[in-house]
Amino acid sequence: MTRVRTGIPGFDDIIDGGLVPTSTTMVVGPSGSGKSIFGLQYLYAGATQYDEPGILVTLETRPAEIRRIATSFGWDIELAEASKTLVLIDAASSKAGLPTSEKHALRRGFDLANLAEEIYHTVEEINAKRLVIDSLHGLGLRFSDPYEIRSEIFRLSALLNELGLTSLFIYESGLSDSLELVTSGHFIPQGLVLFRVHDDGGSFNRSLIVWKLQYSSHSMNWHRFFIDENGFHVDASKR
Ligand SMILES: Nc1ncnc2c1ncn2[C@@H]1O[C@H](COP(=O)(O)OP(=O)(O)OP(=O)(O)O)[C@@H](O)[C@H]1O
Ligand SMILES: [Mg+2]
Repeated sequence: MTRVRTGIPGFDDIIDGGLVPTSTTMVVGPSGSGKSIFGLQYLYAGATQYDEPGILVTLETRPAEIRRIATSFGWDIELAEASKTLVLIDAASSKAGLPTSEKHALRRGFDLANLAEEIYHTVEEINAKRLVIDSLHGLGLRFSDPYEIRSEIFRLSALLNELGLTSLFIYESGLSDSLELVTSGHFIPQGLVLFRVHDDGGSFNRSLIVWKLQYSSHSMNWHRFFIDENGFHVDASKR
């Protein structure tokens, strides 16, 4: 099977070469664990290395801040935007009731139907292959009503898969409850990656595990990962 290479050093090695095309993978972990950087790097690698344009739906961070984060890793996101290989959809401003001068934004107010429409037009405009939603919390989906959330996540992921996108859904968990997600009857799309930040005797380390990835013979070990001036990388060797 062909794979969608994430371009995140070490990560493709533990997932059988890359993500399954037109699938959705949930990335779950606590605040500050690196989820947004992971998502941004996936899109930036797609835009600059793999000729796969991508869309970031940003719900909790305004685009100017995203550009600043990208620039801090030396990623020329504005060039990618100018060449239409990366589009930021500003859903954060309308949610917060703030004006925006972004070309891609939800001007008619925030709801899932408006968002789906904006995604649809943007996919057509740039022939997008990748998409990241950062984060599901921002969609107003909370994991308190499992039944409703199940169907919303299912609907959204089915729509994106139909549009030919390989997507990441970012979801923030508490420090310790990411494993609970997988046992509590919540809908999990084709893939699930859990991040954790753990106390290693006085200092905190980050690691991740690929809990589920359909059609893939993936690692089932926790792998340390690191964020430095070049971005995110994973130690693919066994921990
Ligand atoms: N240039 C850098 N060098 C090293 N580490 C960095 C750098 N930039 C950010 N980080 C680390 O990444 C963390 C932020 O990561 P990120 O924003 O992806 O977390 P997140 O999981 O999305 O959090 P939240 O759920 O709150 O949005 C920072 O707290 C810091 O530890
Ligand atoms: Mg984040």
